[in-house]
Amino acid sequence: MIIEPRMRGFICLTAHPQGCEQNVINQINYVKSKGAINGAKKVLVIGASTGFGLSSRVSAAFGSNAATIGVFFEKAPSPGKTASPGWYNSVAFQKQAQKAGLYAKSINGDAFSNEIKKKTIDLIKADLGQVDLVIYSLASPVRTHPTTGVMHRSVLKPIGQTFSNKTVDFHTGVVTNISIDPATEDDIANTVTVMGGEDWQMWMEQMLAAGVLSEGAMTIAYSYIGPGLTEAVYRKGTIGRAKDHLEATAFTIADKLKSINGKALVSVNKALVTQASSAIPVIPLYISLLYKIMKAKGIHEGCIEQMQRLFADRLYHGDATPTDDKGRIRVDDWEMRDDVQSEVAKLWEQATTETLPAIGDLPGYKTDFLNLFGFAVAGVDYAADTDENVSMPGLV
Ligand code: NAD
Ligand code: NA
Repeated sequence: MIIEPRMRGFICLTAHPQGCEQNVINQINYVKSKGAINGAKKVLVIGASTGFGLSSRVSAAFGSNAATIGVFFEKAPSPGKTASPGWYNSVAFQKQAQKAGLYAKSINGDAFSNEIKKKTIDLIKADLGQVDLVIYSLASPVRTHPTTGVMHRSVLKPIGQTFSNKTVDFHTGVVTNISIDPATEDDIANTVTVMGGEDWQMWMEQMLAAGVLSEGAMTIAYSYIGPGLTEAVYRKGTIGRAKDHLEATAFTIADKLKSINGKALVSVNKALVTQASSAIPVIPLYISLLYKIMKAKGIHEGCIEQMQRLFADRLYHGDATPTDDKGRIRVDDWEMRDDVQSEVAKLWEQATTETLPAIGDLPGYKTDFLNLFGFAVAGVDYAADTDENVSMPGLV
């Protein structure tokens, strides 16, 4: 069928298999163009189908010839109905890995559940024995707790006071003021339960107990800090509490991994357009200004540039991994540069519906958003009849 984007709010209901495939091929070509990385050889990526997780998987497989297992939660296609983009991304990744002679298998299911953890551990045991790198890159609005069965829902709210600031509807370019009421204690607790470190710790404890982590194995989870502009709703809001918890959990896990000389680290990444970030108020306006400035300075990066740099310049560059005073890896270093942030702050003051086309990179935002779903990708023939109902090789 002919597949077109069908937008509803922050999401697109359709996805294009060829566009997603081309995106994955572009990421692979980028990683190859940067040369080999002397990195991990057996890698588990939890949250492997989109965003930073997909780019981590591509960097490991095509930078270091790593065998990879990917875990994700995606919607399979059915006749007349497209899959979610992460499904098509993973189909493309599996195909390309197979072609390159790389081991790659994928598990589609709820990573928060005991069942999927066990299934993953069993697969590692059967096929790889052990893994030496575990990437934890989940982003989800909900988590069913595996012990209590309670479904927790995360919220994006400020803490302590109402937050009022500008935001943009990136579909229309209209800049408005929004007000978000402060979170309740329950909101905070639920958000920490969903996006904090508890599930990461469960994964690592269960893998350690099962003996599927190799001597010296490393695990990394992803965090975000961002500027003063977004602080009240992001880093000092409910999601920030979850990130505080995730970052603290790295130390707890590191302690537990001492028995295998393992490491647990958090990498703070740059603000980028992903399905997760487009749903956060204020962030799209910030990103559209940030993109404009970083592109003008020649320091703009997407997920693949970020993850390739994380692997090549931070984790596997033959020396100790540089971290900040809180033990975090920083690949948001260019985003947080003083010259970048002072210019964003200046533009923020000026941003209105009328000025944004000139001062912001809304077209770049929109293109990135469409790209997430496989649309507006160069070289893809969108008028061509395409098979939406593709199955995934290597799906366990
Ligand atoms: P994303 O939405 O692109 O990816 C989320 C991944 O998690 C997908 O593979 C999805 O299938 C998987 N997933 C979601 N729920 C699942 C479940 N129940 N079981 C199994 N898999 C599930 O998100 P992203 O932006 O790449 O975020 C990944 C991490 O990076 C998050 O911790 C996020 O906070 C962090 N981060 C994001 C940004 C940003 O600007 N996007 C910046 C810095 C850090
Ligand atoms: Na991800």
